[in-house]
Amino acid sequence: MRVEVLDAAAIGGRGATIIREGIESSGIRVLGVATGGSPGPIYAALAASPPRGVGRVRVFALDEYVGIGSSHPRSYHAAVRREITEPLGLDPASVRVLDGETTDAGAECAAFEAEIAAAGGVDLQILGIGSNGHIAFNEPGADPSSRTRRARLDETTRRDNARFFHSLDDVPTHCLTQGIGTILEARRILLVARGAAKAHAIRQAIEGPRSRALPASWLLDHPDVTVLLDAEAASALTR
Ligand code: F6R
Repeated sequence: MRVEVLDAAAIGGRGATIIREGIESSGIRVLGVATGGSPGPIYAALAASPPRGVGRVRVFALDEYVGIGSSHPRSYHAAVRREITEPLGLDPASVRVLDGETTDAGAECAAFEAEIAAAGGVDLQILGIGSNGHIAFNEPGADPSSRTRRARLDETTRRDNARFFHSLDDVPTHCLTQGIGTILEARRILLVARGAAKAHAIRQAIEGPRSRALPASWLLDHPDVTVLLDAEAASALTR
């Protein structure tokens, strides 16, 4: 695991450089994207200077809410369209977000996994981390071998994400999410975290111990993880 502690303003540029170099020189053809606040500066920096060949890249998003439609501005469909598909000029057909409106979550999640496999697997997966240590929406207690599925959002997550909605009552209670096992199959992982609220989760994700109580700690089992932190997110690290 490589950990870089950077000025908050530098994280977007550094993350974009890693992705750009991966696409232009290391053959990244399948990119996994997180939504939420953390990777926003990375996407903005990428959009300011799109990688050569980005039009050939397939994109898979980590998760989607259940209960709000894909046209809802807070849906992850809308976020991916706004922050990635449109600014990078990607063909919407090459960008896959789980369908939170499906009436058959099992079939939708199985189809999603099959599409990742058919695309050759994820070359680089971008991740944020919840204050409770979740990755994607794998909440505390999730099975480390879990696959893409319908899941319940932790109340901590609902409260954390209420800032994106009018009120806590508007925050969905369920989601479709890639599993921890699915995420760990990506060839490379780029985890980004900013702010003191992430410090506790970041410490265990980097220093261990591995535990179901902190899903990001399973990243210790992955051979190629880069972590970009600001000083506040890094503030609980002991080494
Ligand atoms: C979003 C996702 C979540 C977020 C996490 C951090 O697609 O999978 O795991 O990465 O909740 O969210 P922010 O960055 O908003 O603090």
